[in-house]
Parts: sequence; C-alpha cells; structure tokens
Amino acid sequence: MRVLVTGATGFLGTKIVEALRQDNIDVRAMVRATSSTGHLESLPVELVEGSLNPPENLEIILKDVDAVIHSAGGGGFKGKDSFYENNARTTKHLLDAWKAVGCSGKKLILISSQAAAGPAQSIDHHPKEEETQPISLYGQSKLAAEQLALALSKDVSVLILRPPALYGPGDTRLLPLFKAISRGFAPMPAAGRTLSFLHVEDCVSAVCLALKQGPKRNNIYALNDGFTYSVNEVIETLAQVVGGSPLVVRLPTPLLMTAGLCSEWWSLLRGQGVLLSRDKVQDMVSPFWQSDAQRFVDDFAWQPQFDFRTGAAQTADWYRRHGDLAGAPGC
Ligand SMILES: NC(=O)c1ccc[n+]([C@@H]2O[C@H](COP(=O)([O-])OP(=O)(O)OC[C@H]3O[C@@H](n4cnc5c(N)ncnc54)[C@H](OP(=O)(O)O)[C@@H]3O)[C@@H](O)[C@H]2O)c1
Repeated sequence: MRVLVTGATGFLGTKIVEALRQDNIDVRAMVRATSSTGHLESLPVELVEGSLNPPENLEIILKDVDAVIHSAGGGGFKGKDSFYENNARTTKHLLDAWKAVGCSGKKLILISSQAAAGPAQSIDHHPKEEETQPISLYGQSKLAAEQLALALSKDVSVLILRPPALYGPGDTRLLPLFKAISRGFAPMPAAGRTLSFLHVEDCVSAVCLALKQGPKRNNIYALNDGFTYSVNEVIETLAQVVGGSPLVVRLPTPLLMTAGLCSEWWSLLRGQGVLLSRDKVQDMVSPFWQSDAQRFVDDFAWQPQFDFRTGAAQTADWYRRHGDLAGAPGC
C-alpha cells in the first residue's frame, strides 16, 4: 500500500509518517518548497514537492496512491481568509486533482478538528458527531473541508477524524503554558471551562487504525483521551509535572481579544503566520470543549494510552531533555 501524507512536516504529520514506516507502509510525503524537510529526509519516505494552494504538481503527487492522509492545514492566522485558504481551499484542490487522476475505491483520512463541531452547549452536553456549530472561522473552514471530503464518499472510503487539542513531545503550542506554569504564573482565559485533549501518539494510533480497518459504518469520528478536564485540573496537572504552585491569573476576554488583534497586526506587518488571533480567542473563551469519542472506540476498538496527567508528565520530560524547560528529566 502506498499512502500520501499531506502536512507531513507538521507536528502530527511527522508522527503519522514515522508510524506508517514502522508498519512498513510506503509513504509519499507532500512537502512545499518552503517546508523544513530535515527530519523527513532521514526517513525512508518519498518526498515530493508540490503545493495545495495554488495547486501545483498534484496529479503527479497523487498518482498510484492507495490512500491519502490529509493532515495539512491548521489554525494559524495570516489574514482573515487564511483559515479557509489553508483548510478548505487546499482540500478542494487536493480532491479535484485526485478525481482527475482516479480516486475510485481508495481511502481518504481527513484530519479535521473538534473546532469543526464547535463547543458543547453545557457541561453535561457531549455533542454527537452530527451536531456541528463551529464558532470560529477556523472551525468553519475545517467543516467546509469535511463537506468537500464527504462529497467524494460515493467513490472513496472517507474517514474524518476530529481531534481536540493535541500535545506531546515536539509540540510548540502548549509549550508556552508549560513554561509559564514552571515560572509560577498560570494564565487562565475564563472560569469554569472544560477542555478535551489527545496525546499525539494516541491520535496517530487512531489514524493508523482508521487506515487499516476503515471503512466502518460512520464517516465522522470525534477523538479524545476519554476524559473531560476542567481548566483548574489542567493547571494543577501542569503544576505537578513542572513543579511549583503557580499564581492563577484570569485573563479577561477583552484583554485577550486585544492581544489577538495586536498579534494579527504583527502578522500582517511581518507577513508571517501567528497562532494567536481574535478567531483563536473566540474558541479559547468558549466554556465547554468536550466531545464524545465513544463511536471511534466502539468501531475501531481504540484504546488511548495517555490521560492528560501521564501525557503531560511524559511531555514535560521530553521538553526538559530538549532544553525547552528548566529542571532535570524525571523531576
Ligand atoms: N495541533 C492540534 O492541536 C490540532 C488539533 C486538532 C486538529 N488539528 C489539525 O491537524 C492537522 C495537523 O496539525 P499539526 O498540529 O500537525 O499542524 P502543524 O504542525 O502546524 O503542521 C501543519 C502542516 O500542514 C502544512 N500546511 C499548512 N498549510 C498548508 C498549505 N496551505 N498547503 C500545504 N501544506 C500546508 C504545513 O506545511 P509546512 O511545513 O510547509 O508549513 C505542515 O506540514 C491540521 O489539519 C490541524 O488543523 C491539529
């Protein structure tokens, strides 16, 4: 089996590529001219340069692949249209090109996001996959990508996975929080929020099961580690794994929105993508980020290995070993 992985240079994509190679699956990794390919070059994978938006070289990249794991995308801001351009327009170009070279009977695994479903309505509500109310442009763009993928499902076996916040060794998004807490300061966007998490290795195991066992009776699956965490629990856990008892600082939404706006200006001035934007804040301040991953557990006999406590301790250890966090490993 030959599998095309898009987003192969990303946090998740790199680990998907590594896992596929461990299973002796042939991997073709799509990279951009600007991608940092250093790590991928050390793996036995076929690297093919192209672009999803504007579309370049896609027919060649898609030729003779049995499956596509489409992980390219993300919630970074580089102008208001960047969410749609990087998540939906990219998907459209990829799928149009696949149709042109022949995709019948093949498999597509789309890495979507919990943001496509949107937050839950209350603390007791664990939305089913069909309930979608994205509240950010990012979430809407992921939902639009899902709809493009589903439109192909007559010809292709389509599996859509919606991970929540991913973390683990190599992650740079939660690292600032680990660092802040290790320095005695815990920024907290809003009181009483719940969050879902998934360790990146568990997300990879879900992707691999989907590739090997799919299709099943459903197309769309929420993923999480089986727990819902309050923000207080997250801060306590991080304080335990990095050491110390941080001062919790509540960040009012208008302040976060102002920071998001400044970050957007910075992005536009520098012509660089940024993670913090008003769109991101919109998602951050929503009170209930919980989902129900039971459907994937039931259909694929999936068992996540990490709860947040175990995963955060392993991640903190990795950060320490790589000099990202003060203290000796295993502290
Ligand atoms: N990380 C999370 O917490 C999380 C949670 C839920 C869902 N997701 C989804 O999971 C997927 C992977 O996330 P990640 O954390 O691995 O993101 P990441 O580390 O930011 O990597 C993004 C990858 O997508 C590629 N990419 C981005 N925009 C592209 C475009 N316009 N054309 C072609 N390639 C593009 C990047 O290529 P370059 O190296 O060339 O930039 C990189 O390989 C994304 O679809 C994201 O929406 C992530």
